[in-house]
Amino acid sequence: MLRHGHFLQQMLILLACIISTKSYAEKSLKSQIPTCENFFCSEEQVEERSNELEFKQNQIISLRNTVGNPKKKIKHQKLELPKNYHFRSDFSQFLGELLSQYKIPTAVETGTLYGDTTALLAGKFTQVHTVEIIEENYQIAKNRLADSPHVHCYLGSSTAVLHEILPKLHEPIFFYLDAHWYQYWPLLDELEQISHTHRDNCIVVIDDIKVPGFPGIDYDRYGAAECSYEYTSHLLKKIFSEYTLHYYIQQGPNPRAKLIVIPKHWGDLNISSPS
Ligand SMILES: C[S@@+](CC[C@H](N)C(=O)[O-])C[C@H]1O[C@@H](n2cnc3c(N)ncnc32)[C@H](O)[C@@H]1O
Repeated sequence: MLRHGHFLQQMLILLACIISTKSYAEKSLKSQIPTCENFFCSEEQVEERSNELEFKQNQIISLRNTVGNPKKKIKHQKLELPKNYHFRSDFSQFLGELLSQYKIPTAVETGTLYGDTTALLAGKFTQVHTVEIIEENYQIAKNRLADSPHVHCYLGSSTAVLHEILPKLHEPIFFYLDAHWYQYWPLLDELEQISHTHRDNCIVVIDDIKVPGFPGIDYDRYGAAECSYEYTSHLLKKIFSEYTLHYYIQQGPNPRAKLIVIPKHWGDLNISSPS
């Protein structure tokens, strides 16, 4: 009788152990599973998004209205980007599409470095002119592009070279302005030169530009000056009577952007959505 009681007691302890282990395991598993609330935006997240996308104020406001109570769940909402923002991974393809719309025979690049972009331009334009201030870079690019007789490499400061060659180029030009890194940043002087010879007869691309509403996209700064539309707009107004602006944003872990300025009378840029 006593032995039976002892056995029963042991069984009860074992059963209690199994039940408590199971409920502990369930509890700890549950704590690892995100609840539905985790999948929806909190008001702080909406605020963060709102700061990032200043230019989408209206949509953010309507998003906030939808949220109302911060606890209230909202489904994911896709914020449409303006049509002039192009997030892409392949600039060559983008440029191909742009050139199928605007027939431009000649490209002028400032800041050749080792000729990476020059090689890309060489595959798309009938003539390419590129200028580099550092002799070692110039030699590397020149050797690399030696088999492309339609590519002309110049050694010197971009403004001096533009002053020399632009009066001889009467056709529409695709300017790719990418000369920087040193104390003298020639961008404004380059734009001034262009305004003297190619008013309303070119596309201007400025690399490493600030993108409004996207502080996460890095851009060039020199002291107080930052590479932005605002910094260049007074000269863009000298080059173009009217223009449209587009931002090409290179996707990747460290996104950078290019501003593309097109004469308005050339018509709207229609670039298909990335597949
Ligand atoms: C960002 S890199 C150019 C990269 C190149 N365009 C590419 O896409 O591969 C900037 C280049 O501009 C050159 N540079 C800087 N100041 C210049 C100037 N005043 N005239 C011409 N080139 C300049 C630098 O030596 C450097 O090679």
